[in-house]
Amino acid sequence: MDVIRVKDYKELSEQAAKFVLERVKKNPKMILGLATGGTPEGMYEQLVTDHRTAGTSYKQVTTFNLDEYAGLPRKDRNSYYSYMREQLFDHIDIPNDQVHLPNGEAEDWQEECLQYEQAIAEAGQVDVQVLGIGGNGHIGFNEPGTSFDSTTHIVTLDESTRKANARYFSNLDEVPTHALTMGIQTIMRAKEIVLLASGESKADAMARLLQGEADESFPASALLSHPNVTVIADEEALKKV
Ligand code: GLP
Repeated sequence: MDVIRVKDYKELSEQAAKFVLERVKKNPKMILGLATGGTPEGMYEQLVTDHRTAGTSYKQVTTFNLDEYAGLPRKDRNSYYSYMREQLFDHIDIPNDQVHLPNGEAEDWQEECLQYEQAIAEAGQVDVQVLGIGGNGHIGFNEPGTSFDSTTHIVTLDESTRKANARYFSNLDEVPTHALTMGIQTIMRAKEIVLLASGESKADAMARLLQGEADESFPASALLSHPNVTVIADEEALKKV
């Protein structure tokens, strides 16, 4: 696990964008795994700026997002579908049919999970998976206790995760209770993974991750056995390491 230590959020966003851009340029047909949450917003902003100014193209890129709230309409401003359109897809040249998120509006969530897993497998291996980390060590929406063998599945969100994400909603009751997420095994099949962490609220999780003990009670620790992981984290996130 390589750790790139940066000063602050601005530097983290620049480094993360640089990491992705280098790979898109090298492999314009890449399969890119994407994450949502507050952490990658700065990276997306940098990618959009680069697209406008330097013209990096995503015409042949295929993307798969990690997760989506269950039961939230795609048009809801808090769906990860809306997030991705707003943060990235509406501002670059990626064709609509090449972007994928689990469909939280699906009537049969179980079936949707199977189909999403299959779509990823059919596309081939994800070349680079971008990840954030929850304060409790979740990756995607894989909460503590999730099997490292899990594939795309439906989860009940931890109260701590709902509270952490309540900042985007008018109140806690509006935060969905369930989500569809790539499983840990799905994430681990990516050729390369880049995990981003910023701020003090991630310091405990980063300390536990870098302590180096794999345990299902701490989902991010699955990454310890992946051969190609880069962590980009700022000083605040690494202050307990
Ligand atoms: C969310 C997302 C994760 C994200 C994490 C951290 O609930 N499902 O994919 O990485 O929690 O979010 P943030 O970057 O806002 O701290």
